[in-house]
Amino acid sequence: MKMNKLNISLMAIAATALLLTSCQKKDKNSPGYEYMGEFDMYRTQSYKAYEDNNVFPNGLTMQNQVEGTIPHSFDREKMINYMPFPYPNTLGGRDSAIAFLKNPLQKTEANMAEGERLYNIYCIACHGKKGMADGPVVKLLDKRGNMGLLPPAYSSDQAKNATEGQIFYATQYGKGNMGPYNAQLSAFERWQVVMYVQTLQGGGTSPDSTAAQNDSIH
Ligand code: HEC
Repeated sequence: MKMNKLNISLMAIAATALLLTSCQKKDKNSPGYEYMGEFDMYRTQSYKAYEDNNVFPNGLTMQNQVEGTIPHSFDREKMINYMPFPYPNTLGGRDSAIAFLKNPLQKTEANMAEGERLYNIYCIACHGKKGMADGPVVKLLDKRGNMGLLPPAYSSDQAKNATEGQIFYATQYGKGNMGPYNAQLSAFERWQVVMYVQTLQGGGTSPDSTAAQNDSIH
């Protein structure tokens, strides 16, 4: 049978109508027919976090963190506290810290003020208000023959040239009869203290001028 123009256009209309109606679904969220569903192409088979898993040798789905993983934060203070301390408690570790360990904090008034406040809580008992090694504990012990608690004045030969890394290192592991402070103070807080201790290395007479000097360096 020969098709005339009318037949062709009628068929075209019918086909379009069929197409349009086949797009109308009762459930708009339904994906419609799945022709190859059994090949997992539409839906992946994901494992649940605590499910057994024979893909990994240890049989766990949720894998442990890689050794050395640390938390990340966009908060600078948290990041400073999360960073592992890479210098070991050895003579070599101390030498490296003295040479390379640097204060990550800006020398701001706020950091300096907080450093002073913390110093007056944690360090003043031995090191004294101006870092002259004349804190109340030392004075008390002096009356009883001292028994070996002899912090150096920060302006003494032992401590006046101590680098910021050296001061921080002392708070990390302690030194001689001084205990470590890494449990009481976070790394961030200890860097604030270090900043303040540096102002006492000049003899504790003019902390402000030392601070100003440091300002110009950074
Ligand atoms: C219980 C007393 C005591 C307290 C509290 C104390 N220290 Fe000390 N500190 C000492 C003694 C003792 C030494 C001398 C250690 C040595 O050289 O044998 C010392 C030494 C130091 C040194 C010199 C380290 C070096 O490398 O020679 C620094 C810096 C220092 N302390 C900082 C601090 C800071 C900061 C605090 C507070 C967070 C603090 N200390 C709290 C007793 C104390």
